[in-house]
Amino acid sequence: SYQPLIAPSILSADFARLDREIERIPSADWIHVDVMDGHFVPNLSFGAPVAKAVGAVTDKPMDCHLMIEDPARWVGDYVDAGAFNVTFHVEATDDPASVAELLHARGCRAGISLKPGTPVEPYLELLDHVDLVLVMSVEPGFGGQKFMPEMLDKVRTLRAEIDRRGLDVLIQIDGGIDSATIGESAATGVDVFVAGSAVYGAPDPDAKVEALRAEALG
Ligand code: DX5
Ligand code: ZN
Repeated sequence: SYQPLIAPSILSADFARLDREIERIPSADWIHVDVMDGHFVPNLSFGAPVAKAVGAVTDKPMDCHLMIEDPARWVGDYVDAGAFNVTFHVEATDDPASVAELLHARGCRAGISLKPGTPVEPYLELLDHVDLVLVMSVEPGFGGQKFMPEMLDKVRTLRAEIDRRGLDVLIQIDGGIDSATIGESAATGVDVFVAGSAVYGAPDPDAKVEALRAEALG
């Protein structure tokens, strides 16, 4: 049966109080950690030392989304930080399969992410090498942007291909997910929903996580 996972992004949390901010969302399935280097995206968030501090204060799976150049050089630091899954961008490396292999060799799950302008078809051959595909539904770099519904075409393509090949690969969506957009995303077969401003902008973030999950289930 369909079991949607909700992965709140701490990008929209109070960085001075990350332990408390994570304690506010006990219903979260994963904790989504947005790493930005100021080069791959025009914004800078934090790096592996902060991810390690987050990993130390939660038992939940830590899902690191690396919006950085040269991921092969850095993914090991996020494994050391305690990541359960590390997702990197296909636009940032010439050899995504080898970056995924680096992660698997360290016992960590590997995900690839596609910016809105990146087509999915050239990457379908990578589905045998990864555990997750993240479809960005905003331009990466900032929270609080508007959902791009046309990105759901990529989700449909991925859903059909993963099911046809009988693969164990999760589809994740990130950017502009809220009560108004999660239903249509769920209907296309997304497995993991990242939500930043929707969760941390809510008066009761944990109730929002539960509401989003219920809305994904329809
Ligand atoms: C954007 C990040 C997202 C961001 C989502 O580059 O990858 O994870 O935090 O924020 P919302 O949910 O506010 O669009
Ligand atoms: Zn993200």
